[in-house]
Amino acid sequence: MSFKKEIAIGLITAALIGGTAAAQVKTPRGGNPEAAKMTNPVPADEASIARGKEYYDEHCANCHMDDASGVEGGMGESGPPASNLIDEHTDFGGTDGELFSVIKGGILPQLYMPMYEGVISDEAIWDVVNYLNTLKE
Ligand code: HEC
Repeated sequence: MSFKKEIAIGLITAALIGGTAAAQVKTPRGGNPEAAKMTNPVPADEASIARGKEYYDEHCANCHMDDASGVEGGMGESGPPASNLIDEHTDFGGTDGELFSVIKGGILPQLYMPMYEGVISDEAIWDVVNYLNTLKE
């Protein structure tokens, strides 16, 4: 391979990696004003809350605990503890839209908080948001 070609490939690789890193900043610590503008399209009726509980118990409780009070002192790995989801404190924002965005996209870069895009539907994520709102202290 010629030297020029190698440089060209190096530059393209750098641009791709740079582009990915920029696109990944989608769960900003402190809250996400863009996501906060989203309105929850799923009415928080009994059926939605019941579905949300089922999804929560299946997908979230193993890390965030059955009552969503989170895990003290870490997950046994190098990752951060799974957050308390029912107290007033949030790291990534507590509006319906911000919760939706965190659950759908996960928390990059390490995804200790996994992404649920492609795992459960958007409607199911809103059901989980509706359920979490009923647990808040
Ligand atoms: C593998 C463990 C794991 C699973 C499963 C998981 N989470 Fe998380 N979650 C985390 C961790 C760890 C954090 C904190 C990440 C950080 O601070 O970087 C977190 C953070 C969050 C936050 C942000 C809290 C804040 O303070 O702003 C929300 C909301 C959340 N999770 C909801 C959910 C929901 C809902 C589900 C199920 C659909 C779920 N999580 C599944 C580990 C998990």
